[in-house]
Amino acid sequence: MLRVGIVGLGYWGPNLLRGLIEQPSVEVAYICDRDESRLVAFARRYPGATATTSYADLLEDQRLDAVLIATPVFTHFELAAAALRAGKHTFVEKPLAPSTAEVNELIELAEERDLRLMCGQTFLYSPPVREVKRLIDTDELGDIFFISSSRVNLGLHQRDVSVIWDLGPHDFSILLHWLEELPESIATTGRDSIVPGVYDVAFMSLRFPSGLVANVELSWLAPSKLRRTAIVGSNKMVVYEDGTPEPVRVFDRGVVYRDPETFGEYQLSYRSGDIRSPQIAATEPLVTELAEFVRLIETGETSGDLELARQVVMLAEAAEASLAGGGAPVAVSDYEGALA
Ligand SMILES: NC(=O)c1ccc[n+]([C@@H]2O[C@H](COP(=O)([O-])OP(=O)(O)OC[C@H]3O[C@@H](n4cnc5c(N)ncnc54)[C@H](O)[C@@H]3O)[C@@H](O)[C@H]2O)c1
Repeated sequence: MLRVGIVGLGYWGPNLLRGLIEQPSVEVAYICDRDESRLVAFARRYPGATATTSYADLLEDQRLDAVLIATPVFTHFELAAAALRAGKHTFVEKPLAPSTAEVNELIELAEERDLRLMCGQTFLYSPPVREVKRLIDTDELGDIFFISSSRVNLGLHQRDVSVIWDLGPHDFSILLHWLEELPESIATTGRDSIVPGVYDVAFMSLRFPSGLVANVELSWLAPSKLRRTAIVGSNKMVVYEDGTPEPVRVFDRGVVYRDPETFGEYQLSYRSGDIRSPQIAATEPLVTELAEFVRLIETGETSGDLELARQVVMLAEAAEASLAGGGAPVAVSDYEGALA
């Protein structure tokens, strides 16, 4: 059995805890939150685990194999670096750290100590996201022209980070996974509508070396929850709408352009065919994601998505820089980040 401990039992941590209980080869040895009231509630539900407000208790236990971190973004580096230095395999909720330099340092620490490091990028394990990836990889959509995405709802306002660091990692990880291409530039505008200095809406425009463009709207200030991405290809178009009964719909639609043969005008013909809704597996992404962490520990393999996690942080840093610079496009390669 793998003995693991989890730190952070706020909004997301309890979901990780539930996913850990589903893993047959995992024993949850510690639950940790510095907020005593949260801890007490979970200690009653999980009496087999040691409940503590002190993270040091987990690190000092020589028999503890791994730590899972679900604390606010700006604590990730400090807590993850301490876990790796204490010899623990480490799972960190997205984003891996609040700067690329810190991500680089965590990756180096894990490599030096031959420990597994993984970032919780749940959407990479989502069956609809994987189905869209399959549609792209099999060329069913043709060349992808552009992608347009909205991830908006009312709340939850974060205290320490903008909507870019909170919701952005989801879209960044999905786009990087689908396209296997790092955008060359990102331009962002936004507004701190409610809390001064905390941007609660952001409109991001990403340009990829292949010519593809993507637009991503993020907000905690919207009348209703929407997680909708349209992928427009030369053959077909797809709408991926998370949390709906038909999360992936493939539209056999498009436009055919014909060059003018003489000096006449060019010709366009519109194609409007069937809409197909592929069968999507009902597996829970979080459970699959944690099973992957367990598998990495058992096999000693390096996480295949660490570089993607690093690129997510590069994009968030570049998007923030563009926002701070009044919305001008920023080169993503400027955010490679030396070691912290
Ligand atoms: N994968 C996803 O879909 C998803 C969804 C939501 C949040 N998240 C991520 O989960 C993480 C946590 O977000 P949240 O919304 O649950 O935050 P939260 O503020 O609701 O909870 C954080 C908890 O961590 C505790 N904490 C902070 N520092 C601590 C320390 N040093 N020792 C012990 N406890 C400590 C706090 O007391 C709090 O209970 C973030 O990284 C966020 O990006 C991921």
